[in-house]
Amino acid sequence: MQSLIDGFGRTVRYVRLSVTDRCDFRCVYCMAEEMTFLPRAQVLTLEEMATLCRVFVELGAEKIRLTGGEPLVRRNIETLVAEVGALPGLRDFAMTTNGAGLVKAAQALREGGLKRLNISLDTLDPYRFRELTRTGSLDRVIDGIRAACDAGFERIKLNALILKGRNDDEVLDLVDFARAEGVDISFIEEMPLGETIGHDRTETFCSSDTVRATIEARHALVPTTESTLGPSKYYRMADSDSRVGFISPHSHNFCAACNRVRVTAEGRLLLCLGNEHSVDLRAVMRRHPGDLERLKAVIVAAMLKKPERHHFTTDGDVQVVRFMNMTGG
Ligand code: GTP
Ligand code: 5AD
Ligand code: SF4
Repeated sequence: MQSLIDGFGRTVRYVRLSVTDRCDFRCVYCMAEEMTFLPRAQVLTLEEMATLCRVFVELGAEKIRLTGGEPLVRRNIETLVAEVGALPGLRDFAMTTNGAGLVKAAQALREGGLKRLNISLDTLDPYRFRELTRTGSLDRVIDGIRAACDAGFERIKLNALILKGRNDDEVLDLVDFARAEGVDISFIEEMPLGETIGHDRTETFCSSDTVRATIEARHALVPTTESTLGPSKYYRMADSDSRVGFISPHSHNFCAACNRVRVTAEGRLLLCLGNEHSVDLRAVMRRHPGDLERLKAVIVAAMLKKPERHHFTTDGDVQVVRFMNMTGG
């Protein structure tokens, strides 16, 4: 089997596929209030996405994560989930969602073979939730988290992006919530993707070390060597099964161990979240339909374009103009 090895000797085993750039929320750190989305003809069809997933798995990918925008606003996403869920060789299959669509979708996703869910939750205060997401309802997301727990996923993780002055006083409450619901929680440092209007990132950056110190004042955190192939570093607490993770692109750069690539909803293979190096896979698929050997060769060759690392800073510079909804984090 061919494998996906980049120019720095890193093997790519994890593919993050954005199934849509659309979202029913407008989180302040992710999108502008008014967004124009891709015309439908530019977005890959579900069949094209299924083909890409199959090809990546045949090339050695072990983990696929569906992202967005919000993956659950893509019509018939369950059919893609069922197709990808049945791929032999795929060890881990996950989705990152805002949770609003889970009451309706959780059961079908689980039955289709999705193993893990990461659900974004930054605050437990309904007014703040509305401010941060601009359009979302906290109750609906909490109901979604519970529906996901009932559906029997192997693992559910909350993702909380902590912003100084907005939700940094809720770190312990979020940990308590995760413990009470029996799920894991990861804390994320904000990254400078897309020019956000009305949200000044230089004022809100909060490092993982600060968040960890807050938690350690209440709970001893024991580091683990567990890895999900993702960037989260996980810790355990003595008196709970919930794990606490930290995703720290600024304070603890993890690029040297990078094992992942992204595919945008329009079929652009993005080799790094923090750079624009990319290859247009949609063009290859539409010009040469059914020619999977050619598609594989293009993907293998693209690995050499993978840059060594991102160069994010916290000083307000936006090096990547693409908004997060194009790449799904
Ligand atoms: P697990 O599979 O549960 O470990 O999750 P994950 O961390 O791989 O996926 P998730 O979608 O939960 O990612 C959470 C956040 O981590 C994303 O929204 C990004 O903010 C960040 N992240 C993931 N991969 C990368 C990466 O390659 N580089 C950087 N800078 N950030 C990343
Ligand atoms: N920096 C870091 N994480 C972000 N996300 C969205 N925008 C950003 C950003 N600028 C995360 C959300 C969610 C996932 C889809 O992406 O918190 O968990
Ligand atoms: Fe939507 Fe997720 Fe972006 Fe929020 S972070 S606007 S939920 S894609």
